[in-house]
Amino acid sequence: MGSIPISQQPLAPPPSKTSYKIASIPADGIGPEVISAGIQVLETLAETYGTFSFDVTHFDWSSDRYLQTGKYIPDDGLEELQRFDAILFGAVGDQRVPDHISLWGLRLAICQGFQQFANVRPTRILKGVTSPLAACQPTSTDDNDTNRRKLDWVIVRENSEGEYAGQGGRSHIGQPWETATEVAIFTRYGVERIMRFAFEVARSRPRRKLTMVTKSNAQRNGMVLWDDVHKLVAKDYPDVESDKMLVDAMTCRMALQPESLDTVVATNLHADILTDLAAALAGSIGIAPTSNLDPTRQRPSMFEPIHGSAWDIAGKGVANPVGTFWTVAEMIKWLGEDEAAELLMLAVENALDQGVKTRDLGGSAGTTEVTAKVCDEIRRIGRDRGLGATSKK
Ligand code: IPM
Ligand code: MG
Repeated sequence: MGSIPISQQPLAPPPSKTSYKIASIPADGIGPEVISAGIQVLETLAETYGTFSFDVTHFDWSSDRYLQTGKYIPDDGLEELQRFDAILFGAVGDQRVPDHISLWGLRLAICQGFQQFANVRPTRILKGVTSPLAACQPTSTDDNDTNRRKLDWVIVRENSEGEYAGQGGRSHIGQPWETATEVAIFTRYGVERIMRFAFEVARSRPRRKLTMVTKSNAQRNGMVLWDDVHKLVAKDYPDVESDKMLVDAMTCRMALQPESLDTVVATNLHADILTDLAAALAGSIGIAPTSNLDPTRQRPSMFEPIHGSAWDIAGKGVANPVGTFWTVAEMIKWLGEDEAAELLMLAVENALDQGVKTRDLGGSAGTTEVTAKVCDEIRRIGRDRGLGATSKK
Protein backbone atom coordinates (compact mmCIF):
# COMPACT_ATOMS: atom_id res chain seq x y z
CA MET A 1 0.00 0.00 0.00
CA GLY A 2 1.37 3.34 -0.97
CA SER A 3 0.97 6.63 0.79
CA ILE A 4 -2.03 8.90 0.26
CA PRO A 5 -1.13 11.91 -1.88
CA ILE A 6 -1.59 14.56 0.77
CA SER A 7 -0.96 17.69 -1.18
CA GLN A 8 0.75 18.44 -4.42
CA GLN A 9 2.61 21.19 -2.70
CA PRO A 10 2.95 20.76 1.05
CA LEU A 11 5.07 23.88 1.42
CA ALA A 12 3.70 26.67 -0.75
CA PRO A 13 5.97 29.71 -1.29
CA PRO A 14 4.96 33.08 0.20
CA PRO A 15 3.09 35.41 -2.17
CA SER A 16 4.94 38.54 -3.12
CA LYS A 17 3.26 41.54 -1.44
CA THR A 18 4.11 44.97 -0.10
CA SER A 19 1.24 45.44 2.33
CA TYR A 20 0.30 42.71 4.78
CA LYS A 21 -3.06 42.43 6.49
CA ILE A 22 -2.53 41.31 10.06
CA ALA A 23 -5.32 40.25 12.43
CA SER A 24 -4.33 40.95 16.02
CA ILE A 25 -5.99 38.94 18.80
CA PRO A 26 -4.29 39.99 22.07
CA ALA A 27 -6.93 38.21 24.27
CA ASP A 28 -6.10 37.63 27.95
CA GLY A 29 -3.62 38.45 30.74
CA ILE A 30 -0.33 39.84 29.44
CA GLY A 31 -1.51 39.20 25.85
CA PRO A 32 -2.50 42.86 25.19
CA GLU A 33 0.81 44.23 26.61
CA VAL A 34 3.08 42.00 24.58
CA ILE A 35 1.04 42.25 21.37
CA SER A 36 1.08 46.04 21.54
CA ALA A 37 4.90 45.84 21.92
CA GLY A 38 5.02 43.46 18.94
CA ILE A 39 3.01 45.89 16.80
CA GLN A 40 5.36 48.76 17.68
CA VAL A 41 8.23 46.64 16.46
CA LEU A 42 6.35 45.77 13.24
CA GLU A 43 5.75 49.48 12.58
CA THR A 44 9.39 50.32 13.25
CA LEU A 45 10.50 47.65 10.79
CA ALA A 46 8.09 48.96 8.16
CA GLU A 47 9.37 52.56 8.64
CA THR A 48 12.98 51.38 8.54
CA TYR A 49 12.60 49.45 5.31
CA GLY A 50 10.02 51.64 3.59
CA THR A 51 9.32 48.78 1.15
CA PHE A 52 6.46 47.06 2.98
CA SER A 53 3.75 47.94 5.47
CA PHE A 54 1.37 46.27 7.90
CA ASP A 55 -2.32 46.93 8.07
CA VAL A 56 -3.30 45.71 11.56
CA THR A 57 -6.93 45.05 12.58
CA HIS A 58 -7.68 44.35 16.25
CA PHE A 59 -10.16 41.74 17.45
CA ASP A 60 -11.39 41.79 21.06
CA TRP A 61 -11.94 38.01 21.17
CA SER A 62 -11.06 37.13 24.75
CA SER A 63 -12.34 35.65 28.00
CA ASP A 64 -13.97 39.01 28.83
CA ARG A 65 -15.94 38.82 25.65
CA TYR A 66 -16.83 35.19 26.35
CA LEU A 67 -18.17 36.14 29.78
CA GLN A 68 -20.25 38.93 28.24
CA THR A 69 -21.56 37.16 25.12
CA GLY A 70 -21.07 33.42 25.72
CA LYS A 71 -18.71 33.17 22.74
CA TYR A 72 -15.00 33.66 22.16
CA ILE A 73 -15.40 33.85 18.39
CA PRO A 74 -18.53 35.25 16.75
CA ASP A 75 -20.39 32.95 14.33
CA ASP A 76 -18.76 34.35 11.20
CA GLY A 77 -15.38 34.83 12.97
CA LEU A 78 -13.28 32.36 10.99
CA GLU A 79 -14.66 33.69 7.71
CA GLU A 80 -13.63 37.16 8.80
CA LEU A 81 -10.10 35.98 9.63
CA GLN A 82 -9.76 34.26 6.27
CA ARG A 83 -9.05 37.59 4.51
CA PHE A 84 -5.88 38.25 6.54
CA ASP A 85 -2.31 37.31 5.62
CA ALA A 86 -1.48 36.29 9.19
CA ILE A 87 -2.86 36.28 12.72
CA LEU A 88 -0.86 37.63 15.66
CA PHE A 89 -2.18 36.06 18.85
CA GLY A 90 -1.43 36.98 22.48
CA ALA A 91 -2.59 34.44 25.04
CA VAL A 92 -5.84 32.88 26.22
CA GLY A 93 -6.68 31.77 29.76
CA ASP A 94 -8.61 33.34 32.64
CA GLN A 95 -9.35 31.95 36.09
CA ARG A 96 -13.06 32.73 35.68
CA VAL A 97 -13.30 30.27 32.76
CA PRO A 98 -12.21 26.59 32.88
CA ASP A 99 -9.01 26.21 30.84
CA HIS A 100 -10.43 23.62 28.47
CA ILE A 101 -13.30 25.98 27.58
CA SER A 102 -11.05 28.97 26.85
CA LEU A 103 -8.55 26.90 24.91
CA TRP A 104 -11.11 25.13 22.74
CA GLY A 105 -13.18 28.30 22.43
CA LEU A 106 -10.44 30.43 20.92
CA ARG A 107 -6.98 29.10 20.17
CA LEU A 108 -7.80 25.54 19.20
CA ALA A 109 -10.89 26.72 17.33
CA ILE A 110 -8.60 28.75 15.07
CA CYS A 111 -5.76 26.17 14.81
CA GLN A 112 -8.07 23.29 14.01
CA GLY A 113 -10.60 25.32 12.02
CA PHE A 114 -7.84 26.60 9.75
CA GLN A 115 -5.96 23.29 9.65
CA GLN A 116 -2.82 24.95 10.95
CA PHE A 117 -1.38 21.49 11.25
CA ALA A 118 2.26 22.42 11.76
CA ASN A 119 3.25 24.05 15.02
CA VAL A 120 6.83 25.23 14.72
CA ARG A 121 8.93 26.15 17.74
CA PRO A 122 12.52 27.25 17.19
CA THR A 123 14.76 27.26 20.25
CA ARG A 124 18.22 28.65 20.62
CA ILE A 125 20.13 30.50 23.29
CA LEU A 126 19.94 34.17 22.37
CA LYS A 127 22.88 36.46 23.03
CA GLY A 128 22.71 37.93 26.51
CA VAL A 129 20.68 34.98 27.84
CA THR A 130 22.11 32.30 30.12
CA SER A 131 21.11 28.68 29.70
CA PRO A 132 20.88 26.49 32.81
CA LEU A 133 22.71 23.76 30.87
CA ALA A 134 26.30 23.13 31.95
CA ALA A 135 27.17 22.17 28.35
CA CYS A 136 26.15 25.65 27.21
CA GLN A 137 28.14 27.67 29.76
CA PRO A 138 31.26 29.48 28.56
CA THR A 139 34.41 27.44 29.18
CA SER A 140 38.06 28.33 28.97
CA THR A 141 38.48 26.43 25.71
CA ASP A 142 35.29 27.54 23.90
CA ASP A 143 33.93 31.05 23.67
CA ASN A 144 30.41 31.98 24.66
CA ASP A 145 29.14 31.86 21.06
CA THR A 146 30.37 28.32 20.54
CA ASN A 147 28.61 27.22 23.70
CA ARG A 148 25.40 29.02 22.82
CA ARG A 149 25.33 27.30 19.46
CA LYS A 150 25.24 23.85 21.09
CA LEU A 151 21.53 24.38 21.47
CA ASP A 152 19.92 25.33 18.18
CA TRP A 153 16.74 23.39 17.48
CA VAL A 154 13.44 23.58 15.66
CA ILE A 155 10.72 21.44 17.21
CA VAL A 156 7.84 20.63 14.85
CA ARG A 157 4.66 19.77 16.72
CA GLU A 158 1.71 18.01 15.08
CA ASN A 159 -1.07 20.51 15.65
CA SER A 160 -4.33 19.08 14.38
CA GLU A 161 -4.95 15.67 15.92
CA GLY A 162 -3.23 13.14 18.20
CA GLU A 163 -3.86 13.63 21.90
CA TYR A 164 -5.62 16.96 21.18
CA ALA A 165 -8.21 15.43 18.86
CA GLY A 166 -10.97 16.20 21.36
CA GLN A 167 -12.44 12.70 21.14
CA GLY A 168 -13.74 11.08 24.28
CA GLY A 169 -16.43 11.44 26.87
CA ARG A 170 -17.51 11.06 30.45
CA SER A 171 -20.22 8.76 31.77
CA HIS A 172 -21.69 8.27 35.25
CA ILE A 173 -20.49 11.73 36.25
CA GLY A 174 -19.90 12.06 39.98
CA GLN A 175 -20.38 8.34 40.69
CA PRO A 176 -17.51 6.29 42.10
CA TRP A 177 -17.62 4.32 38.81
CA GLU A 178 -17.40 7.44 36.67
CA THR A 179 -15.65 6.68 33.39
CA ALA A 180 -13.75 9.05 31.11
CA THR A 181 -12.00 8.43 27.83
CA GLU A 182 -9.51 10.69 26.07
CA VAL A 183 -8.83 9.12 22.72
CA ALA A 184 -5.75 10.08 20.73
CA ILE A 185 -6.39 9.99 16.99
CA PHE A 186 -3.58 9.43 14.53
CA THR A 187 -4.41 9.36 10.84
CA ARG A 188 -2.01 8.34 8.11
CA TYR A 189 -2.94 11.57 6.34
CA GLY A 190 -2.17 13.70 9.40
CA VAL A 191 1.04 11.90 10.29
CA GLU A 192 2.33 11.93 6.74
CA ARG A 193 1.74 15.64 6.18
CA ILE A 194 3.54 16.63 9.40
CA MET A 195 6.37 14.20 8.66
CA ARG A 196 6.90 15.66 5.18
CA PHE A 197 6.77 19.17 6.58
CA ALA A 198 9.37 18.27 9.25
CA PHE A 199 11.68 16.75 6.65
CA GLU A 200 11.35 19.96 4.61
CA VAL A 201 12.28 22.05 7.67
CA ALA A 202 15.26 19.77 8.37
CA ARG A 203 16.35 20.05 4.72
CA SER A 204 16.21 23.85 4.88
CA ARG A 205 18.68 23.96 7.79
CA PRO A 206 22.43 23.52 7.40
CA ARG A 207 22.72 20.28 9.38
CA ARG A 208 19.91 18.47 7.55
CA LYS A 209 19.08 16.35 10.54
CA LEU A 210 15.69 15.18 11.84
CA THR A 211 14.87 13.32 15.06
CA MET A 212 11.42 11.76 15.29
CA VAL A 213 9.99 11.28 18.77
CA THR A 214 7.35 8.72 19.80
CA LYS A 215 6.56 6.28 22.59
CA SER A 216 6.14 3.30 20.28
CA ASN A 217 7.45 0.77 22.77
CA ALA A 218 4.46 1.24 25.08
CA GLN A 219 1.85 2.74 22.77
CA ARG A 220 1.67 0.06 20.16
CA ASN A 221 -0.82 1.44 17.64
CA GLY A 222 -0.73 5.14 16.83
CA MET A 223 2.94 5.47 17.69
CA VAL A 224 3.85 2.50 15.49
CA LEU A 225 1.98 4.23 12.66
CA TRP A 226 4.32 7.20 13.25
CA ASP A 227 7.33 4.86 12.98
CA ASP A 228 5.99 3.35 9.73
CA VAL A 229 5.24 6.72 8.14
CA HIS A 230 8.63 8.05 9.22
CA LYS A 231 10.38 5.16 7.50
CA LEU A 232 8.33 5.67 4.33
CA VAL A 233 8.76 9.45 4.09
CA ALA A 234 12.49 9.25 4.93
CA LYS A 235 12.99 7.47 1.57
CA ASP A 236 12.04 10.70 -0.20
CA TYR A 237 14.67 12.65 1.75
CA PRO A 238 17.93 10.71 1.34
CA ASP A 239 19.86 13.94 1.96
CA VAL A 240 18.38 14.32 5.48
CA GLU A 241 19.91 12.25 8.26
CA SER A 242 17.11 10.96 10.46
CA ASP A 243 16.85 9.02 13.70
CA LYS A 244 14.13 8.24 16.23
CA MET A 245 13.85 8.57 19.99
CA LEU A 246 11.40 7.57 22.68
CA VAL A 247 10.03 10.65 24.37
CA ASP A 248 11.30 9.83 27.87
CA ALA A 249 14.85 9.25 26.64
CA MET A 250 14.53 12.39 24.54
CA THR A 251 14.31 14.57 27.67
CA CYS A 252 17.70 13.22 28.78
CA ARG A 253 19.22 13.77 25.35
CA MET A 254 17.96 17.37 25.27
CA ALA A 255 19.58 18.07 28.63
CA LEU A 256 22.79 16.09 28.20
CA GLN A 257 23.60 16.20 24.47
CA PRO A 258 21.87 19.31 23.14
CA GLU A 259 24.35 19.57 20.28
CA SER A 260 23.26 16.16 18.92
CA LEU A 261 19.83 17.55 17.93
CA ASP A 262 18.68 19.88 15.18
CA THR A 263 15.11 19.45 13.86
CA VAL A 264 12.67 17.39 15.90
CA VAL A 265 9.16 16.14 15.05
CA ALA A 266 6.71 14.80 17.62
CA THR A 267 3.02 14.39 18.40
CA ASN A 268 0.84 17.18 19.70
CA LEU A 269 1.23 16.32 23.40
CA HIS A 270 4.81 15.04 23.35
CA ALA A 271 5.99 18.17 21.58
CA ASP A 272 3.94 20.37 23.92
CA ILE A 273 5.96 19.00 26.82
CA LEU A 274 9.30 18.93 25.01
CA THR A 275 8.95 22.55 23.90
CA ASP A 276 8.48 23.78 27.48
CA LEU A 277 11.64 21.89 28.40
CA ALA A 278 13.37 23.39 25.37
CA ALA A 279 12.30 26.92 26.35
CA ALA A 280 13.59 26.43 29.90
CA LEU A 281 16.91 25.03 28.64
CA ALA A 282 17.28 28.04 26.37
CA GLY A 283 16.90 30.38 29.34
CA SER A 284 13.24 31.40 29.75
CA ILE A 285 9.72 30.55 28.66
CA GLY A 286 9.36 34.34 28.19
CA ILE A 287 11.35 34.34 24.96
CA ALA A 288 9.93 31.34 23.09
CA PRO A 289 7.88 31.77 19.89
CA THR A 290 5.30 29.60 18.13
CA SER A 291 3.99 29.45 14.59
CA ASN A 292 0.76 27.60 13.85
CA LEU A 293 1.13 27.08 10.12
CA ASP A 294 -1.09 26.00 7.30
CA PRO A 295 1.83 25.09 5.04
CA THR A 296 -0.51 24.92 2.01
CA ARG A 297 -1.26 28.66 2.55
CA GLN A 298 -4.93 28.16 1.79
CA ARG A 299 -5.71 29.72 5.17
CA PRO A 300 -3.87 32.30 7.27
CA SER A 301 -1.33 31.03 9.77
CA MET A 302 -1.25 32.15 13.40
CA PHE A 303 1.74 33.31 15.42
CA GLU A 304 1.95 33.55 19.22
CA PRO A 305 4.44 33.67 22.06
CA ILE A 306 4.48 30.36 23.99
CA HIS A 307 4.25 31.87 27.46
CA GLY A 308 0.48 32.11 28.01
CA SER A 309 -1.60 34.71 29.88
CA ALA A 310 0.57 35.00 33.06
CA TRP A 311 -2.08 36.83 35.11
CA ASP A 312 0.30 37.10 38.07
CA ILE A 313 2.26 39.79 36.24
CA ALA A 314 -0.49 41.21 33.98
CA GLY A 315 -0.79 45.00 34.01
CA LYS A 316 2.48 45.46 35.91
CA GLY A 317 4.56 46.41 32.88
CA VAL A 318 7.13 43.68 33.51
CA ALA A 319 6.12 41.08 30.90
CA ASN A 320 8.94 39.98 28.64
CA PRO A 321 8.09 41.12 25.09
CA VAL A 322 10.95 39.09 23.55
CA GLY A 323 8.72 36.01 23.01
CA THR A 324 6.45 38.24 20.92
CA PHE A 325 9.35 39.86 19.05
CA TRP A 326 10.71 36.44 18.09
CA THR A 327 7.13 35.46 17.14
CA VAL A 328 6.86 38.57 14.95
CA ALA A 329 10.19 37.62 13.32
CA GLU A 330 8.80 34.16 12.53
CA MET A 331 5.60 35.73 11.17
CA ILE A 332 7.34 38.10 8.77
CA LYS A 333 9.68 35.32 7.65
CA TRP A 334 6.59 33.28 6.81
CA LEU A 335 5.28 36.27 4.84
CA GLY A 336 8.52 36.36 2.84
CA GLU A 337 10.37 39.19 4.62
CA ASP A 338 13.38 37.08 5.59
CA GLU A 339 15.84 39.93 5.75
CA ALA A 340 13.65 42.03 8.07
CA ALA A 341 13.15 38.98 10.29
CA GLU A 342 16.91 38.54 10.57
CA LEU A 343 17.37 42.26 11.36
CA LEU A 344 14.72 42.08 14.08
CA MET A 345 16.42 39.13 15.79
CA LEU A 346 19.76 40.92 15.60
CA ALA A 347 18.17 43.97 17.27
CA VAL A 348 16.65 41.76 19.99
CA GLU A 349 19.97 40.03 20.67
CA ASN A 350 21.82 43.35 20.79
CA ALA A 351 19.34 44.69 23.35
CA LEU A 352 19.63 41.57 25.52
CA ASP A 353 23.39 41.52 25.20
CA GLN A 354 23.52 45.11 26.46
CA GLY A 355 21.58 44.01 29.54
CA VAL A 356 18.23 45.55 28.59
CA LYS A 357 16.12 42.61 29.71
CA THR A 358 13.20 41.75 31.96
CA ARG A 359 13.24 40.11 35.40
CA ASP A 360 12.75 36.54 34.10
CA LEU A 361 16.12 36.93 32.36
CA GLY A 362 17.84 38.42 35.40
CA GLY A 363 17.42 42.03 34.28
CA SER A 364 15.38 44.90 35.70
CA ALA A 365 13.90 46.53 32.59
CA GLY A 366 10.14 46.73 31.98
CA THR A 367 8.22 45.85 28.81
CA THR A 368 8.34 49.46 27.54
CA GLU A 369 12.08 49.84 28.03
CA VAL A 370 12.90 46.59 26.24
CA THR A 371 10.56 47.55 23.40
CA ALA A 372 12.08 51.03 23.05
CA LYS A 373 15.58 49.57 23.03
CA VAL A 374 14.73 47.01 20.37
CA CYS A 375 13.09 49.72 18.21
CA ASP A 376 16.20 51.93 18.60
CA GLU A 377 18.41 49.02 17.58
CA ILE A 378 16.23 48.35 14.51
CA ARG A 379 16.61 52.00 13.42
CA ARG A 380 20.35 52.00 14.16
CA ILE A 381 21.04 48.79 12.21
CA GLY A 382 18.79 50.11 9.45
CA ARG A 383 20.88 53.30 9.21
CA ASP A 384 24.13 51.27 9.26
CA ARG A 385 22.83 49.12 6.43
CA GLY A 386 21.64 52.16 4.50
CA LEU A 387 18.04 50.99 4.47
CA GLY A 388 14.92 52.99 3.74
CA ALA A 389 14.19 56.55 2.70
CA THR A 390 17.32 58.14 4.20
CA SER A 391 19.60 55.86 2.18
CA LYS A 392 18.03 56.80 -1.13
CA LYS A 393 19.14 60.44 -0.92
C1 IPM B 1 1.17 25.55 24.33
C2 IPM B 1 0.30 25.59 25.54
C3 IPM B 1 -1.09 25.10 25.23
C4 IPM B 1 -1.03 23.72 24.66
C5 IPM B 1 -1.99 25.17 26.45
C6 IPM B 1 -2.25 26.61 26.86
C7 IPM B 1 -3.24 24.40 26.32
O1 IPM B 1 0.86 24.84 26.56
O2 IPM B 1 0.89 26.26 23.36
O3 IPM B 1 2.15 24.82 24.35
O4 IPM B 1 -0.87 22.74 25.36
O5 IPM B 1 -1.14 23.58 23.44
MG1 MG C 1 2.74 24.06 26.12
